[in-house]
Amino acid sequence: MSIDTTAINREANLFADHDEVWLFGYGSLIYKADFAFLERRPARLHGWSRRFWQGSHDHRGTPARPGRVATLVADATSSCLGMAYRITPDVFTHLDHREKNGYLRHALTLDLLDGNEVEGLVYVAREDNAAWLGPDDDDAIAMQIANAVGPSGSNRDYVLALADALHALGEQDAHVSSLERRLRGTRA
Ligand code: SIN
Repeated sequence: MSIDTTAINREANLFADHDEVWLFGYGSLIYKADFAFLERRPARLHGWSRRFWQGSHDHRGTPARPGRVATLVADATSSCLGMAYRITPDVFTHLDHREKNGYLRHALTLDLLDGNEVEGLVYVAREDNAAWLGPDDDDAIAMQIANAVGPSGSNRDYVLALADALHALGEQDAHVSSLERRLRGTRA
């Protein structure tokens, strides 16, 4: 099941009075920047974990066979490395459409890896959205991902592209690595 969050995000219109906004990407927004940005810098979000708990019925799966894509869950003991983009607010028209399957814009503080702290936005799919799938064991999650394909390509490619991007950033994300090993066919 899916819900279109475009109108909710447009209505809330966070940072509408700003000329520029920092956007934090932690999933496909790290490796697929199909939007204009002024600059990008690696950044870390404290108090959140990246999890493949959100269903994808529109990009990496279908309504009949949904895939699983990344979202963030609150986790006081953890942090999430991603990419921060400095953008102009007009870019949200595209981003709201791209992230429409359950993601809401959320304001928070980002730690840029250069040492600066900035206010920014992140798209988070919360557990109360209709496309939420929630936790499962990594074998089951990897199996679902291995069998899902949507208009944006295979769900497997989404995970492996994210894993490659995190390796390039020097990041070890245990959840992503666990799925990567399973999808590449090794469990070592
Ligand atoms: C993100 O990348 O920040 C959001 C989730 C996604 O589009 O994969």
